[in-house]
Parts: sequence; C-alpha cells; structure tokens
Amino acid sequence: MVVDFESEIKELEDFKPESLMRREYSESEDRQENILRPQHLEDFQGQQEIKDNLEIFIKAALKRGEALDHTFIVGPPGLGKTTLASIIANEMKSDIRMTSAPALDKPKDLAGILTNLSENSIFFIDEIHRLKPVIEEMLYIAMEDYEIDWVIGQGPAARTMRIPLPHFTLIGATTKAGNVSSPLASRFGINLHIDFYDDEELAKIIKRSSHILKTEIDDDALLLLAHCSRGTPRIANRLLRRLRDFALVLSDGRITKNTVEQGLERLGIDSNGLEKMDRQILKTIIEYYGGGPVGADTLSISVGEAVESLEDFYEPYLIQQGYLKRTPRGRCVTRKAYELLDIKGGSYADEGLLF
Ligand SMILES: Nc1ncnc2c1ncn2[C@@H]1O[C@H](COP(=O)(O)OP(=O)(O)O)[C@@H](O)[C@H]1O
Ligand SMILES: [Mg+2]
Repeated sequence: MVVDFESEIKELEDFKPESLMRREYSESEDRQENILRPQHLEDFQGQQEIKDNLEIFIKAALKRGEALDHTFIVGPPGLGKTTLASIIANEMKSDIRMTSAPALDKPKDLAGILTNLSENSIFFIDEIHRLKPVIEEMLYIAMEDYEIDWVIGQGPAARTMRIPLPHFTLIGATTKAGNVSSPLASRFGINLHIDFYDDEELAKIIKRSSHILKTEIDDDALLLLAHCSRGTPRIANRLLRRLRDFALVLSDGRITKNTVEQGLERLGIDSNGLEKMDRQILKTIIEYYGGGPVGADTLSISVGEAVESLEDFYEPYLIQQGYLKRTPRGRCVTRKAYELLDIKGGSYADEGLLF
C-alpha cells in the first residue's frame, strides 16, 4: 500500500482517564484506581438496567460472532464510564484501544489507530464531545461503512483512496451529551446513561474496595461514608483511601464511624457530602447575584474555579441534590440552598420567584 501513516500511533497505554475532575489529580491515584476497577459486569455495582441490557447485547453479539454495536456512554465524572468500557471489552473477550478526543489531533492519528484495530475489537474514545470536525467526519464513515477516505498527494494530483477497516465497536464516553453533534450521536446503536449512585450502591462499592485494600470498616462507618461520597464511586474510593490512612495513623487501622466523622471534617466535607467549594458556589450566587440567574462564565470567575470543573464536577451534584437549577438565563439556587446556608429571604428558582 502506498499510504504511509508514519505510524505515529499515540502511546495509548499511557492514556490518563479523567483529569478534569479535580485539580489534585495524580498519576499515582490513577494506578490506585485501576486496582479497584471492576473487571466484570457482575462486579459493577448498581446501574441495574444498564447491566441487564448490556448483558443481552453482549450475549447476542457473541452468539452472532459479531462486534457489539457502537456504544455511547454518558454521565458525570467518576461514575464508571471508563470502567464500563473495559468491562465490555472483557466480556466480549476482545482487545480494547483507549484514547481521548483531544489526543486525536490529526486525521492520521485516527487513521493510524483504526487501521491497526483487530477484528471485533473495541475502540474507546473518552471526552468524545471534544472531537475536531475533520476527525469526526472521518469517524462517521468508519462507524457506518468500516472504511475511511484517505487523501494521497496534494493539489490537483491529490486523489482519495478508500481503505477498508476491520469491524470494530466504537465506545464513546462523555460528560456532556449536549455537546455531541447529532450526526455523531445518531450513529451509536446503544446508549447508556449512567446516573449518580444511591447510598446503598455506594456502600457496596466501598465494601468491595475495602476488601481489596484489606481494610476493615464498621457498618455505620460504611453508610456514613457512602452518604458523603456525592453519589460517585471515584469519590467513595478516594475517601476510603484517605480514611484508611487516618485510621492507621490515629487508631488501630479499623475504620469506625468516628474515623469517618473526624476524617471528613479534616477534609472539609459536611454531613451532606458537600465540600467548601460547593457551599462557596451557592453562597456566591445568593450574595452576589441575588440567588441568580448567573451565567457559568461569570460564576466561574467569581468563585475562582475553571468553568469545566464547575460544569462537569460541582454543578451536576448540586443540581441532582436540588440545591441548584440550570435555567436558560443562567444558574439559580433553590430554597434548599438558602436553608443549607441558613440564609433568610431571597428568591427561589423552584418557586418561580426571580426578582
Ligand atoms: N459501578 C461501579 N462499581 C464499582 N466500582 C465502580 C463503579 N463505577 C465506578 N467505579 C470505580 O470508580 C472509579 C472511577 O470510575 P471511572 O470508570 O474511571 O469513571 P469515569 O470514566 O466515568 O470518570 C473506578 O476506578 C472504579 O473503581
Ligand atoms: Mg473516564
């Protein structure tokens, strides 16, 4: 073949999953996370409906000896999108290549990966809402026809070659479904929407992780920790690791309710699982913007937090917990936020009283 891709295939093994979520993200944490990452569907807690459906789709694909349909995974950071992608690969007994949209800079980056996939393998693109248009267009044909158009030469001498690809499953993950173009979204056959976990599901996740980390944890400690984990497995696991340190240094290594209470206080997390920045966001909207509405950009400057972490990390949980609302005119707090901060009066988005 004439085409020379210069084999500039990225070091995808080094690929870092979620770096947006927290500024103090570190590579060592990434490794720790991998230890706790479930490998099979049965170890993936909660999200019963997703698991039930996936199990059927996977079994059907295996029976037919075909690749699974292209799969779209949506949900806030830390809820298990990357985990689910690798579980799908395990259950399909297929290879998986992982990358993220910002790493696909040039068409040849994508072409290099696609042409090197094995038959029926999985190709995972994280943050798929961040694909460049030229890459996205290439992906359309790849997803639909398992081919890519490759332009050779330049100017009048340029010509296009169609290169056949192996059958593969694209798994696209995003925290922002609204930012994915509809032509791309419509090419996915399976849509999975991961939502926040309830306390009971988080308790199961923490229990499993504590076994793996060989740490004992009391039942009441487990429940309290689950309740303060923002409905997010990544945070539950992260807090567990910190509390394990506290328990080891401050007592006999067993995590008790007391350890959790003290530990959370040290970490600035309240009994609702909210941290300082959460309260800061609500307080700012009330004190500076009369309860809202205020735009994300303005709010981000006021609280000194990047818009991305505001939108991807803080807001989804505040909204889910009913402290905040997104309206067409901007963010507004609800009555619950006033109550939380013990501030009297004001306007509530939930009662339509915006003045
Ligand atoms: N349903 C689940 N059951 C058990 N652990 C989970 C589950 N979802 C996520 N986790 C844990 O949370 C961590 C973060 O999940 P990850 O898949 O990286 O989230 P995302 O890609 O959505 O940001 C993983 O290391 C894994 O241990
Ligand atoms: Mg991820």
